[in-house]
Amino acid sequence: MTNYTLQLDKLTKIFGRRLVFKDIDFTFSEGNVYGITGSNGSGKSTLSKIVIGINSPTRGKVYHKLAGKDISPNDLHNHVGFVSPYLVLYDEFSAEENLKHFAKIRGIMFDQNFTDGLFSDFKLLDRKNDLLKGYSSGMKQRMKYIFALQHNPELLILDEPTSNLDNQGKDTVYNIINREKKNKLILVTSNEDSDLALCDEVLNVENYKK
Ligand SMILES: Nc1ncnc2c1ncn2[C@@H]1O[C@H](COP(=O)(O)OP(=O)(O)O)[C@@H](O)[C@H]1O
Ligand SMILES: [Mg+2]
Repeated sequence: MTNYTLQLDKLTKIFGRRLVFKDIDFTFSEGNVYGITGSNGSGKSTLSKIVIGINSPTRGKVYHKLAGKDISPNDLHNHVGFVSPYLVLYDEFSAEENLKHFAKIRGIMFDQNFTDGLFSDFKLLDRKNDLLKGYSSGMKQRMKYIFALQHNPELLILDEPTSNLDNQGKDTVYNIINREKKNKLILVTSNEDSDLALCDEVLNVENYKK
C-alpha cells in the first residue's frame, strides 16, 4: 500500500454556456474501486480528463496525494494510467515498439520483465512483435491495458472499460480490476450494471448539475 488519495474540491466544469457539473466534493482512496456513472454526455469523460490533467476545471481543484504529500502536475504522468476510447496507438508499430515509444515520450522507464509479465497476463506475449494493424479490436483493447499499466501507476482510470468487449473480454477486465485494486486506486466510468457491480462506491455525475 502506498496510500494514494485523490480529492475533488468544489470541482466545476462549464463549456461555454453548458454546465457539465458543479461543486463536486469527493475523496477517493487507494484499495477501492469507484464508479463514475451518468447518462451519455453527462460528463464522465470530462471528469476523468480533468482528474488526470489533460483538461482543466472551470472552478475548483483536484489534489493527488501520495502518503500525504501533494503530487505536482508535472509528475502526475508517473502515477496515473488511463484507458479510454480516445487513446490511439500506432498501427504501424508492433505492440512492444508502441510501449517503448510512449515510455520515451512520457519519460517513464521501459521495464522488459514487467511488460512481458503484462503481455502474458493479457495473452499477448507471443504477439508482442506483431504490428498493431494486424490486431483484432479485442487485442487492441487488451493492449491499452498493458499501455496503462506499464509503469505500475497507483491510480488507474478506466473510461468505459468494457464497451465493445465480448463476455470473455469483460471477464479479463474484471479479473484485472480485482487483481490491481489491492494496491491501486481505480476509477471506472460506466453505465453498465456489471461494471458498477464491481465498485465499492459510485459517484453519479447527474447529482451535480445544479
Ligand atoms: N471539448 C469540449 N468542448 C465543448 N463541449 C464539450 C467538450 N467535451 C465535452 N463536451 C460536452 O460536455 C458534455 C459531457 O461530455 P462527456 O464528458 O464526453 O460525457 P460522457 O463521457 O458522460 O458521455 C457533453 O455535453 C459534451 O458535448
Ligand atoms: Mg465518455
